[in-house]
Amino acid sequence: MDNNSRENFGSKLGAVLAAAGSAVGLGNIWRFPIETGQNGGAAFIIVYVGCVLLLGIPIMMSEFIIGRHTHTNTAGAFRKLSPGTQWKWVGRLGVLSGFVILSYYSVVAGWTAEYTTLAIANFFDGKTASDFPTIFADFVSNPWKSLLWMMAFMVVTHVIVIRGVKSGIEKFSKVMMPALFIILILLAICSVMLPGASQGLEFLLKPDFSKITGATVLSAMGQAFFSLSLGLGCLCTYASYFGNDTNIGKTALNVSIIDTFVAIMSGFIIFPAVFNAGYTLSSEDIGPSLLFITMPNVFQQAFGSIPVLSYLVSVLFYFLLVVAALTSTISMHEVVTAYVSEEFAMTRRKAATIVTLACSTVGVFCALSFGPLDGFKLFGMTLFDLFDYVSSNIFLPVGGMFIALFVGWYLDKKMVRNEMTNNGSLRAPYMRLVIFILRYVAPVAIGIILINQLGLVKLF
Ligand code: TRP
Repeated sequence: MDNNSRENFGSKLGAVLAAAGSAVGLGNIWRFPIETGQNGGAAFIIVYVGCVLLLGIPIMMSEFIIGRHTHTNTAGAFRKLSPGTQWKWVGRLGVLSGFVILSYYSVVAGWTAEYTTLAIANFFDGKTASDFPTIFADFVSNPWKSLLWMMAFMVVTHVIVIRGVKSGIEKFSKVMMPALFIILILLAICSVMLPGASQGLEFLLKPDFSKITGATVLSAMGQAFFSLSLGLGCLCTYASYFGNDTNIGKTALNVSIIDTFVAIMSGFIIFPAVFNAGYTLSSEDIGPSLLFITMPNVFQQAFGSIPVLSYLVSVLFYFLLVVAALTSTISMHEVVTAYVSEEFAMTRRKAATIVTLACSTVGVFCALSFGPLDGFKLFGMTLFDLFDYVSSNIFLPVGGMFIALFVGWYLDKKMVRNEMTNNGSLRAPYMRLVIFILRYVAPVAIGIILINQLGLVKLF
């Protein structure tokens, strides 16, 4: 497709909100509190913020540079910048990871939609702690319900993606992101005012550095990649729609600040309420079922004395999750749609339809791995777990490492400088530091973590 017919985001704010929409998702409100709970609270948060600053922002800037310079999908971008080399595989691996993550992410996103309807129907009212595990187990093992919700989520994503960059993605993000911030802050205020909230606050704010181990650092870095949407060319694809006046350094900083703020706010919503309801940090309470077993009960107990409040808090909380998940599924869908449409010269609509059908098909197997297919295991994991493991622990860090190497070593530094300074009209005093990180710090750090995670050498 001709580049002149490509759309751009309509404004700088629209670009920031769309990229922030991609970054803010289940990773912030679901995965972050779980990781924080299991890795010691405040100390984990400090290591996490360190990873965002040291690795996240430079790699995000790299994705922005590659995308904005080439104005094309992520696989095309690598080919364009390094014709005739094997770098194109980094882009292709990215598209594949986007496809895989979208397939299983939509399953969990579907659960958040089901729980929103349950909350609206006031289904949680009067239920006690022992009811929620059964409600969740019944739901996820019922093949029809999970499938239907997964597909519904995929269809809504599809509808927004086919409307295009400006009137689909940007418009949706501009309405939904502010709504998300308001709900987030309201819920945090409610939670922090609960009796006994101080225990939760202390957990989030008072670091116990003896809790930091090698494993903490590994989890913090994996979480940073996942949460910032890095490593698969997602933000590279979005940057291909940036205008020439978008400040790459500032945008990377803003998106990272928003993403980190939302993650920490989720902690402020979840931990004071969890401690108030008398939960401990045992792995069953703060595991993957946190949002679907622990939290509905927490809302009943914490706000149950004022039924309207517990109703509103539950509805808003699940709605918040749906919105956060949707802006992220849109971004993953867009990575693959842009690739299919541009590389195979198809209309956006046709490309998106292929992506939606293919992802839904794979999603079916992921959804069923909680029910009829739960006995089907590859490498000892269900399909859902395998996809999650392979994509976040292997594909994303590998992708991130190659992106850092590509910009740090391969690309012409003059071109990198031109992108960072918008052809000399901005100052970018941080450029040398960023290049140093991309050349040495990021590849070495990610390399060590990868080797360790794959179990090739056990360092920690
Ligand atoms: N960052 C999103 C979240 O926190 C998920 C996501 C969207 C993502 N696009 C991505 C993760 C690209 C990795 C790569 O939920």
